[in-house]
Amino acid sequence: MPLATVSDWRAAARRRLPRFAFDYLEGGAEDGRAMARNESAFGRIGFVPRSLVDVANVDMTATLYGQQLAMPVAVGPTGLNGLYRPQAEEKLARAAGRAGLPFVLSTASTSRIESVRAAACGPLWLQLYVQNDRRIAERWMAKARSCGFSVLLITVDTPVAGTRDHYRRNGFTLPLRWTPRLLLDIARHPRWCLSTGVHGMPQMVNLADCSEQRADITTQAATMAQEMNRSLTWTDLAWLRRHWNGPVVVKGIGCVDDARLARQYGADGIVLSNHGGRQLEDAPTAIELLAAVVDAVGGSMPVLMDGGIRRGSAVAKAVALGASGVLLGRAPLYGLAAGDEAGAEEVLAILRRELEVTLRLLGRPVLRELGRSDVTRI
Ligand SMILES: Cc1cc2nc3c(=O)[nH]c(=O)nc-3n(C[C@H](O)[C@H](O)[C@H](O)COP(=O)(O)O)c2cc1C
Repeated sequence: MPLATVSDWRAAARRRLPRFAFDYLEGGAEDGRAMARNESAFGRIGFVPRSLVDVANVDMTATLYGQQLAMPVAVGPTGLNGLYRPQAEEKLARAAGRAGLPFVLSTASTSRIESVRAAACGPLWLQLYVQNDRRIAERWMAKARSCGFSVLLITVDTPVAGTRDHYRRNGFTLPLRWTPRLLLDIARHPRWCLSTGVHGMPQMVNLADCSEQRADITTQAATMAQEMNRSLTWTDLAWLRRHWNGPVVVKGIGCVDDARLARQYGADGIVLSNHGGRQLEDAPTAIELLAAVVDAVGGSMPVLMDGGIRRGSAVAKAVALGASGVLLGRAPLYGLAAGDEAGAEEVLAILRRELEVTLRLLGRPVLRELGRSDVTRI
């Protein structure tokens, strides 16, 4: 059966992946309320359609940080993508580039930064988690700069990993412990088993390279989880600036005051995000926070958002409420997991087609011209 929507791709990803891997992709923190609200909040925003407008041509293009994009959308940073497919980040970067969108490489990525560079055909942005040993972050930034990465996203909503009950339920640990339950789970998914068997379990290769540790996932997992720098503060943006000569964007802003602080400390942009509902349960959703943040800081720097984008119409709503762009988390991963690189490409194409139809039906053919009068609370 052809897969028509992001939600169809999600169902296909669920069928192909062992449960522990799908739950890692999909799972939110605690009872999943923040994650569910990310999506449902879009359903409370209605459109104000205009008729008899010339919508023969639609313009969805955007410029972000000097880069011309096909849409104001980036494939956002997600860790451990190698759990779904080998060479996952090379494939996502290519899919993004072909769609005219940037790809953001996570610190917890499983493909070497050099091979992502070689594979990519579009803008590359870098996501940073800072560990206690700051030399790791400094090496990561230096490597990325030499590979032509242009924009740095520092993620600030992750001093610890959120409470993800499914890890414990599924026995998901790094390294994987081969419990009978896990072995049964894997045995039930022979296609996944075959491709992972041939290519081996993914490793956080970049973290290993930058920390000069062996690429053994036990050490890497410990480095990620226990060594996350929990004393990072706003003044550390100055340290980042010394090591990054491009735009620095703070990802994981969850209130208006922090948006103001980001501006005050010299950020070049922010991403309103609750990390896909994977961190603080009942954290605000970015789409609900957006208008207030744009009122506070919008004129001074790009305000991006993420969380719950599963339809092209969601991009239109975010732009109407003042977002300069959106990041995709799970959506392209569903495509990758279920359909490999072509699946990731198709998910991006679905969102594009839906956005185009939305703009025509809305009678607002130029995406960047959308404003608050185009949407209403329903
Ligand atoms: C499987 C998975 C892994 C993620 N890993 C990272 C990461 O390494 N760094 C980061 O800043 N955000 C990470 N995120 C959060 C995403 O960048 C993004 O904020 C979130 O997924 C957006 O919500 P959505 O999935 O509903 O689109 C991850 C999200 C998922 C689903």
